[in-house]
Amino acid sequence: MERARKVEAQMTDEERFSLLISVMGTNATLTDKDPRIPEDVPMSAGYTPGIPRLGIPALLMSDASLGVTNPGYREGDTATALPASIALGASFNPELARRSGQMVGKEARSKGLNVQLAGGLNLHRDPRNGRNFEYLSEDPWLTGVLGAESVKGIQGEQVISTVKHFSLNCNETNRHWLDAIIDPAAHRESDLLAFEIAIERARPGSVMTGYNKVNGTYAGGNETLLQGILKGAWGFPGWVMSDWGATPSWDFALRGQDQESGVQIDVMMWGQETFPGPLREAYAAGDFPKERLSEMVQRILYAVFDVGTDRWEGTPDVDLAAHADIALETARQGIVLLKNDGVLPLDALSGSGGPLKIAVIGGHAQLGVPIGAGSSAVVPPGGYAESHTIGGPGIMGGMRNLYLLPSSPLAELQKLLPGAAIEYDPGMSPAEAALLARRSDVAVVFGIRVEGEGYDNADLSLPWGQDAVIEAVADANPATVVVLETGNPVAMPWLPKVRAVLAAWYPGQCGGQAIAEILTGDTNPSGKLPLTFPAGLDQTPRPELPGLGTPWGTPTTIHYNEGSDVGYRWFARTGQRPLFPFGHGLSYTRFDYAGLTVSDRDRVRAKFTVTNSGPRRGADVPQLYLLEDPAGARMRLLGFERVNLDAGESRTVSLDVDPRLLASYDTDRGQWHTPGGSYRVALGHAAGNYALEADVSLAEAWFGR
Ligand code: BGC
Repeated sequence: MERARKVEAQMTDEERFSLLISVMGTNATLTDKDPRIPEDVPMSAGYTPGIPRLGIPALLMSDASLGVTNPGYREGDTATALPASIALGASFNPELARRSGQMVGKEARSKGLNVQLAGGLNLHRDPRNGRNFEYLSEDPWLTGVLGAESVKGIQGEQVISTVKHFSLNCNETNRHWLDAIIDPAAHRESDLLAFEIAIERARPGSVMTGYNKVNGTYAGGNETLLQGILKGAWGFPGWVMSDWGATPSWDFALRGQDQESGVQIDVMMWGQETFPGPLREAYAAGDFPKERLSEMVQRILYAVFDVGTDRWEGTPDVDLAAHADIALETARQGIVLLKNDGVLPLDALSGSGGPLKIAVIGGHAQLGVPIGAGSSAVVPPGGYAESHTIGGPGIMGGMRNLYLLPSSPLAELQKLLPGAAIEYDPGMSPAEAALLARRSDVAVVFGIRVEGEGYDNADLSLPWGQDAVIEAVADANPATVVVLETGNPVAMPWLPKVRAVLAAWYPGQCGGQAIAEILTGDTNPSGKLPLTFPAGLDQTPRPELPGLGTPWGTPTTIHYNEGSDVGYRWFARTGQRPLFPFGHGLSYTRFDYAGLTVSDRDRVRAKFTVTNSGPRRGADVPQLYLLEDPAGARMRLLGFERVNLDAGESRTVSLDVDPRLLASYDTDRGQWHTPGGSYRVALGHAAGNYALEADVSLAEAWFGR
């Protein structure tokens, strides 16, 4: 911070103000090139000029939730397209998160981009949220731990990463006018806890605010969140940038926002560039203090110096083959086998007198796999296999497309099962699909849905009549397997009729290969659900989604009444059985747990043994839950660990529990509190599916801020 202060002191006000905005490059939304972006600078989501005389590099910002984005920005440029963050969440693998962050950092740096708009940490509160695919999970611990590793991976390459969207940007419907209401203590125990964990572990250079309001005040101008919690209680030293077009008022600068992002979008939204215009006027009029201007600049400089974007030497070697392996490995570990009554793996099946006849149906499986739409879209090496315009109301309509990455599940299955007779049907009509299914030994039918930024799903169903196709295929062939490629849970009216279901999410540029490997058995599935699959919307906290169906621009209030009981916690609190629980995921082998002991020295520590008691090597994710504290039932994921084991192999695992997960937040005292008494914990395979339970006694404690 000392260096940031010294450098800032040498600046002119002109230079100071120049750092307080980013200008958006040309893309599908903005087609006119902004003259403030120099010719030799690659287009990206945001550009902030440097100050060469003081050794301050320009900031070049690019989206990077699932790889370095490029559609529309840089002609011909491509990057490794990772599986959606929800798939990374399903891997429960922090090490993979680190590697994918590192990959993003390297690719960004090789393109001259030094700020990555990555680290999507909003919790999956609503199974309709169009952006859940960009977020990791419904749980604060899982989200915080994985999010931290990906930020560390990026920043290890001297590229700044954000975490976003701070906070409660958990629905897309009317997001610019959405007021998210939550009990402040519950907020600390849920979405804010995910941010707190990621920020303290990874020290991201910047935090991006959400578009929405929180308890009546826009996130970007929310003093309680920005000054009180982020910069106050947590001591965050970096800078707060707005989301693109989320700075309606100059006095956000007085309430904690340090930089206005994508100023042209503010013109589209609010009719002004806010910091270059009204903020400067306020400064000239003496309404905006010099000390605050200096602080804003110092925070940006601090992040630049801390992460080292000013000390780049040379260009990193980008090994695209190694990066493709990370995309492949994430898909392998993130795809979840939801149901299997023995039909999978396919390599154990034999044809009825001749080669195994496999029908592959629907989902454009002959071409590739879909991705989520919006600012996170990545063009893979070689380009998309197909892109199809969908459109919709609002400023995100131009980015709402069906993009297919060229990794065809059909072609990959053919490679892995050369002896099988595989035929494809596009799934255009139930009747036509049933014809092929009827004369096949097994039918693999794909269900896809384009979800994306700016739009919530209206319900849980698959679009384009795909449910009817699946139903007809299952009626025609009792050996039907469904592969879902979606960013959220879907309703499964056909579930009892099908023999296996895979949730493949948006599986990235090697997704077709990973799906095929899991279907055939070349890869043993190990993904676990990072969010609960409800049986229907009536089980969720909001059967009706506020604002759904109203025109773009309608002010909307959403009550997150579930508070910190998000996802599996809500199901535990209301005693409901979901379709598939959080943490659930099947394997082709079996895992047993034994010897659970729970002790409390500095921290609560659980110890136990995991044994692979099945026939083949595989990975498991034992999960430790709090079931009850002295005040009564209270469900919390306390820890997890991904373990790889050969058949017959055992491993002892220890999990140290973060004390905040056992505590409640007390807003009056501004501290975490654990009441003294007995705490019941359980070790299980999923929320609600426990193998062992134990009690531990804790003394009363107040801690933290
Ligand atoms: C998104 C952000 C993104 C920004 C820049 C916004 O629409 O909400 O996540 O980083 O655009 O592309």
